[in-house]
Amino acid sequence: MLWALKKCYYRVYQFVLKLATYVLDWTEPAVYRGPGSVKKLPVILKNRKIGNVLVVTDKTIVQLGLMGTLLAGLDEKGIRYHIFDAVEANPSVETIEEARRLYLEHGCGAFLAFGGGSPIDCAKVAAARISNPRKPVKKMRGILHVTHRPPTVIAVPTTAGTGSETTVAAVVKDTATHEKFAVMDPKLRPRYAILDPELTVGLPPHITAATGMDALIHAVESYIGKGNTKYTAECALKAVNITARWLVRAYEDGGDMEARGQMLIASHHAGNAFTRAYVGYIHAIAHNFGGLYNTPHGLANAIVMPYVLEYYGGKIYPRLAELADAAGVSRPGQDQTRKAEAFLAWLKELKKALGIPEHFDALEEKDIPLVVERTLREANPLYPVPVIMDKAGCEAVLRKIKG
Ligand SMILES: NC(=O)c1ccc[n+]([C@@H]2O[C@H](COP(=O)([O-])OP(=O)(O)OC[C@H]3O[C@@H](n4cnc5c(N)ncnc54)[C@H](O)[C@@H]3O)[C@@H](O)[C@H]2O)c1
Ligand SMILES: [Fe+2]
Repeated sequence: MLWALKKCYYRVYQFVLKLATYVLDWTEPAVYRGPGSVKKLPVILKNRKIGNVLVVTDKTIVQLGLMGTLLAGLDEKGIRYHIFDAVEANPSVETIEEARRLYLEHGCGAFLAFGGGSPIDCAKVAAARISNPRKPVKKMRGILHVTHRPPTVIAVPTTAGTGSETTVAAVVKDTATHEKFAVMDPKLRPRYAILDPELTVGLPPHITAATGMDALIHAVESYIGKGNTKYTAECALKAVNITARWLVRAYEDGGDMEARGQMLIASHHAGNAFTRAYVGYIHAIAHNFGGLYNTPHGLANAIVMPYVLEYYGGKIYPRLAELADAAGVSRPGQDQTRKAEAFLAWLKELKKALGIPEHFDALEEKDIPLVVERTLREANPLYPVPVIMDKAGCEAVLRKIKG
């Protein structure tokens, strides 16, 4: 009885939240795309009269020399920059504070986030700290806790997966508790997004695979949830369609510029989908693996995905059938059940083709109760999931994931 009441409360909460989102500002970033589009960035800054930026990135990107074209362009336009390259995978509160400190110390006028989801998220929250100096990062946890509009953030993704260049979210790691949490507020959305495939051609296959699966899962989780609008559903279907056609190609031939460009677009569409329609238990569980064991975000998601979809069962088959059509894995004349099964089978095949393991061996037995608790805390009541999970359900799913 108590559980039935709780579920009822969750659904009411989600419904009210969905209504409330109609009054929020969902303006998307201005997008520049195509090979070489990063060259437009110095011009954007010049036009905006921004003469000094903090570049937020990570050490690998600096070592790979990925920022060469951009930095030459900034020099040419006389735009000063300071590089902060200490962002780790799954950025921590401390790293965000360091980025904020450098921004203030160097008197910067904008953040230039250059990298995967980790540097972009770091820059988004550091920017929020600039405009909200009295609110610590942990107080921004959850939805709509960023009071004042942050300075301009320009995002240049170098992975094709998180969609962070267009989302209202940023994921932060609390190093004291090894917990990842999300900060979600439309004010976090970057002002500009540069989708330049030349920057992603050097991604090693395993990162291409993991980040590409992240994009696909954003599309799937948002599409099967109850938070969709017509627009988010369209974005999700586009993302699934593009991923089905191009991800394996990008994985097998990293230098295929068209595949790289398409995956950036897929990731961006998926970002636009889930940022309003939310994710679900796949992400809520995967965040724990990132927090506790530092597992890359996309990899954790990809491992978890089939088990959560199986848990949802037949309830999501109508939606999965539509996703099967979008992915091009259904056959004409198939009924809904066959199509949904074809989609699930395709996801498993895709995982195999991308070298993603079936199980998550690193999950320690002793951590299961904590993962259950944190998963349900993250997802309930916020995520408008198709089936609400309880403790026993979550534990059973985790045991299957562990294998
Ligand atoms: N804000 C959002 O909406 C959102 C959505 C999903 C995930 N996330 C978060 O984003 C983070 C994950 O981001 P990610 O998956 O993009 O990975 P990442 O940014 O952590 O990067 C992963 C690795 O790839 C390397 N790398 C990046 N670009 C490269 C390139 N072009 N060539 C070679 N190596 C490159 C990095 O140096 C790093 O070692 C997680 O913290 C996750 O929780 C945020
Ligand atoms: Fe994700």
